[in-house]
Amino acid sequence: MTAPIVHVPVLLQEVLENLPVPPAGRVLDLTLGLGGHAQAILAQAEPSLRYLGVDRDPHARALSKKRLGGDARLTIMAGAYEGVWEDTAFQAWCHLQAPEGFDVVLMDLGISTLHLKDVARGFSFMEAGPLDMRMDPEHGLTALEWIQEQSEENLANAIYEYGEERASRPISRAILKALAENRLHTTQDLAAAVYTVIPREPAKRKGHSDPATRTFQAIRIAVNGELQGLSEAIEKAVFALKPGGRIGVISFHSLEDRIVKQTLRRLAGIHDGPGRTPPSTLPKHLRLIYGGGIAPTEDEIRANPPSRSARLRIGERLLDDSPRVP
Ligand SMILES: C[S@@+](CC[C@H](N)C(=O)[O-])C[C@H]1O[C@@H](n2cnc3c(N)ncnc32)[C@H](O)[C@@H]1O
Repeated sequence: MTAPIVHVPVLLQEVLENLPVPPAGRVLDLTLGLGGHAQAILAQAEPSLRYLGVDRDPHARALSKKRLGGDARLTIMAGAYEGVWEDTAFQAWCHLQAPEGFDVVLMDLGISTLHLKDVARGFSFMEAGPLDMRMDPEHGLTALEWIQEQSEENLANAIYEYGEERASRPISRAILKALAENRLHTTQDLAAAVYTVIPREPAKRKGHSDPATRTFQAIRIAVNGELQGLSEAIEKAVFALKPGGRIGVISFHSLEDRIVKQTLRRLAGIHDGPGRTPPSTLPKHLRLIYGGGIAPTEDEIRANPPSRSARLRIGERLLDDSPRVP
């Protein structure tokens, strides 16, 4: 029997303290995952609370349903945070259950332990898995199909931009060479192509992260379109809050965090233009709580190393007459 997959919710205490949910509150969790944050929020809440959990991954939804599905306060819905706003079932739920808007919206971005531990999903190179990497395995191109469509330049650009990998060009060449020679089938084949450019052993000896990590991150971000639509989704989430309601977004790498930070600052009326910042004429929909965001404590990083790069940014919706979504 295989052990159940457990995802340790990141920055949990900080989420509970800084995204307070009133007893009869309304919560929108746009990345339900395995329901770790959901379970903790529900444990503190009253029977009249309503919690809508959305996730694009059917496996994550099935596991969180198994874990929390008996809780009548929780509704689990399929969807992606960039598109769920147009879903009629989502709109109907919001109008019926949260007509005044949400007290809390949570977005805990990226992948979960489920993705990394389930070799068949193709996110990990610790064991040989299929080159898939889709968070929603029912839609879109697999990582292998995506690579097959790339020119050397496009692949290098993606590895550079989404992986912040300096050796993006030779790595792109090595991956496409392996593909042409029919040597690119598994996640370990992809990692092996990276090691032909950056050998694994010296990095390991120096305690650096595996040289394939940045390339895997890049291809995963490209395959899942992780950065497209993030800013718009955060904006919609802010407009789905009640006045005084709070949004919390947890990001795991600098590219994501930059988008989260810039979006929240813009919605807070802060002008981030180049050169001398002109007085802002941007409308102010939010108040930022902790401008620099919240990072995990040393204790959390020790107990749960994947939390290392997490950052929680929070904004509080102001009283204004800007549009309500959905
Ligand atoms: C870090 S995990 C969330 C973990 C969750 N907070 C918990 O404590 O169990 C991120 C989840 O977001 C989902 N996800 C990623 N991108 C998404 C998107 N665009 N729309 C909806 N869900 C998404 C992933 O499938 C994954 O289950």
